[in-house]
Amino acid sequence: MSVETCAIHLNNLLTRGQFPLVALVDGRVVGEAELLVGHEGERRGLVAHLSVIDVHRDYRGRGLGRALVEASKKLAQDSGAEMLTVVPEEEAKGFYEALGFALRERWIEVEVTPGRLREPHMEAGLVSLDPEDFDGMELVVGRYQSGANIAFNLCEEFAGCEVLDAGTSWAGVVEGVEFVAHFWEAPFLDRKKAYVWVKPDARRSLEDDVRLGVSTALALARSPISALVPEAVARELGEPTGVVVEFWGVDL
Ligand SMILES: CC(C)(COP(=O)(O)OP(=O)(O)OC[C@H]1O[C@@H](n2cnc3c(N)ncnc32)[C@H](O)[C@@H]1OP(=O)(O)O)[C@@H](O)C(=O)NCCC(=O)NCCS
Repeated sequence: MSVETCAIHLNNLLTRGQFPLVALVDGRVVGEAELLVGHEGERRGLVAHLSVIDVHRDYRGRGLGRALVEASKKLAQDSGAEMLTVVPEEEAKGFYEALGFALRERWIEVEVTPGRLREPHMEAGLVSLDPEDFDGMELVVGRYQSGANIAFNLCEEFAGCEVLDAGTSWAGVVEGVEFVAHFWEAPFLDRKKAYVWVKPDARRSLEDDVRLGVSTALALARSPISALVPEAVARELGEPTGVVVEFWGVDL
């Protein structure tokens, strides 16, 4: 990121009520973290997710990473969250272990081809995405980070240019369940990457909503899609691509 783009990015986070944090040594910024918080409805409640944490290499090993995580935990707790989650890079797992995080969920990316799943009954229309569309909605397909993270990425604007919102978005009702779906379509991808949020209901299971989300995405895309789904339902829905996302968490 250029300095200018970074300034817009931080401003976008702040105007959406999110939390960029910095670590200062003698007045210089030597570390940064980004905490995103969003309400994902009845099942998950308020989700707090640490999407970025980086300490300048000359300043590592001095407790700054720990300080950024502790400050994030405090902000998350003050916001009303009960857990802080991360998706650790392989090399950073030891760091998170030292701070009390442990594996909570494993999600697997699968490729799904048309005809594989029953087409659900739905009413849907094309929409342009707005951050408010995601309040109280749970990200059940494409959970590479939290619902708030992906929603922020898709809606982030740089000087009026929605650089990340490459693709099409749909909203509607599928078999009585409210949903928002987005397809990320980039020239370097050979299939559409699907994201689906649903309005959760504690009487329905996450797995059932994931099945509904994937069949909705497939019916809308009418082409092969890649879908990140919980490990428990991955093999019944498609062929694994090799991408595995581990969610680690610490109770607050
Ligand atoms: C991961 C990172 C943020 C850690 O920051 P840091 O300031 O060096 O960490 P701290 O000094 O606060 O370390 C806190 C504890 O974690 C331990 N720790 C830090 N990195 C570790 C690692 N890679 N493996 C095992 N333990 C580690 C430290 O020993 C320390 O334990 P202690 O307090 O019991 O002595 C930093 O290494 C970094 O910026 N890495 C590159 C970016 C990155 O990988 N970010 C995470 C993406 S998910």
